[in-house]
Amino acid sequence: MSFDVAPCSNLAEFSDAVFAIGQYFGMEPTEERMERFSRNLPFERMHAAREDGMTVGGAGAFPFEMTIPGGVVPTAGVTVVGTFPTHRRRGVLRSLMRAQLDDVHKRGEPVAALWASEETIYGRFGYGMASLNGSVTVPREGSAFAQPLEPAGRVRLVEAAEALELFPQVWDAVRRAIPGMLGRSRDWWEHRILFDSPENRQGGGPKRLALLETDGRAEGYAIYRHKFAFREGEPDSELAVVEAVALDGRPTAEIWRFLLDVDWMVRTTAGLLPVDHQLWQLLATPRRMKMRLGDGLWVRLVDVGAALSARAYAADGAVVFDVRDAFCPWNEGRWKLEGGTAERTDADADLACDVTALGATYLGGFTWAELVRGGRAEELTDGAAARADAIFGTWRAPWCPEIF
Ligand SMILES: CC(C)(COP(=O)(O)OP(=O)(O)OC[C@H]1O[C@@H](n2cnc3c(N)ncnc32)[C@H](O)[C@@H]1OP(=O)(O)O)[C@@H](O)C(=O)NCCC(=O)NCCS
Repeated sequence: MSFDVAPCSNLAEFSDAVFAIGQYFGMEPTEERMERFSRNLPFERMHAAREDGMTVGGAGAFPFEMTIPGGVVPTAGVTVVGTFPTHRRRGVLRSLMRAQLDDVHKRGEPVAALWASEETIYGRFGYGMASLNGSVTVPREGSAFAQPLEPAGRVRLVEAAEALELFPQVWDAVRRAIPGMLGRSRDWWEHRILFDSPENRQGGGPKRLALLETDGRAEGYAIYRHKFAFREGEPDSELAVVEAVALDGRPTAEIWRFLLDVDWMVRTTAGLLPVDHQLWQLLATPRRMKMRLGDGLWVRLVDVGAALSARAYAADGAVVFDVRDAFCPWNEGRWKLEGGTAERTDADADLACDVTALGATYLGGFTWAELVRGGRAEELTDGAAARADAIFGTWRAPWCPEIF
């Protein structure tokens, strides 16, 4: 069955479409909440699926700029995808994905990215698992650093108004170097990152905002919550890090030393960390943080030629891909990547794969060798995966510190 799918044009339509998933979050779609949400998601980037004029599903796409190896690329940040429980498994999601990817393609955004609520949903629409993220629980007694830290900076608590001016400076310095990080507008900072709805505290206190400065220059920040508890007269509190971002090296060490040393906290928890986080090098006993891994960003190349040509590569050489893309057939066929540019070719292919494999390797989160071993790509010429990996090589793991 196919449904009538169209972009929203006002707040009422927008609210109905967002409620398609909002109801699963137990959300009350108040006007205040929807108005706030729409500041970062323009009405026309929210598609609604309707049956007999009634909204039965919705899917949105934030207009992001995402860092990729060697630069940034306009990216559709797919979000709030949902189908009413009354209409599940009747093709609503498929109709929404069709309209949304056609729209993204028309807009000239070569890449789409998302966080998946379930891993089984988005592969059929061409998204590949592109990064991993780690969660840690650092016990106080396992929080010592391997090497003494000579602090050069000063940490102070700030209010939201000051954070709104200074945190973005740190973010912008860091995010341009790490694939998977996103540009953030002032509205994004104000209405998402620094906004602190009591409903989202999950047993913690309000967001605390800490700024690290060295010689008056903002070099790092942390957003965290106290989860206060005392048991039988002894502290059993947890410090829950929402986001900690700092320049590489000493500033990152200093902001984490601050977080790990807050009194009464018997453990510090953090999620959405990159797999190569500096804590592995800083901690004397990194095993004790027990990093758990999960899938992070899922990436889809909406325009294979434009997306591959937007990236930087680590080595010269050529590789020809034979790409299958059932959902976006304009990408199907053979593509030659050479000298940083991908063009259509009649040459014999080196690697055959579904478009999901190109998404998986795009940010450097997975290698072609891994995909071949796992049956997600096929080597057609000897050593093709190793050659492709030399070309695609990146210098650090992708990181998206935020579920959107
Ligand atoms: C996930 C969800 C959006 C699916 O919507 P839907 O309208 O029922 O999906 P469709 O009927 O269009 O299904 C399209 C295809 O996806 C498959 N599919 C749908 N939901 C799936 C799931 N949860 N896991 C695996 N496959 C799924 C269908 O079997 C169908 O497969 P086919 O193309 O081989 O026939 C809907 O169940 C929902 O709103 N869930 C709760 C909120 C949520 O998880 N949203 C996603 C946020 S990232």
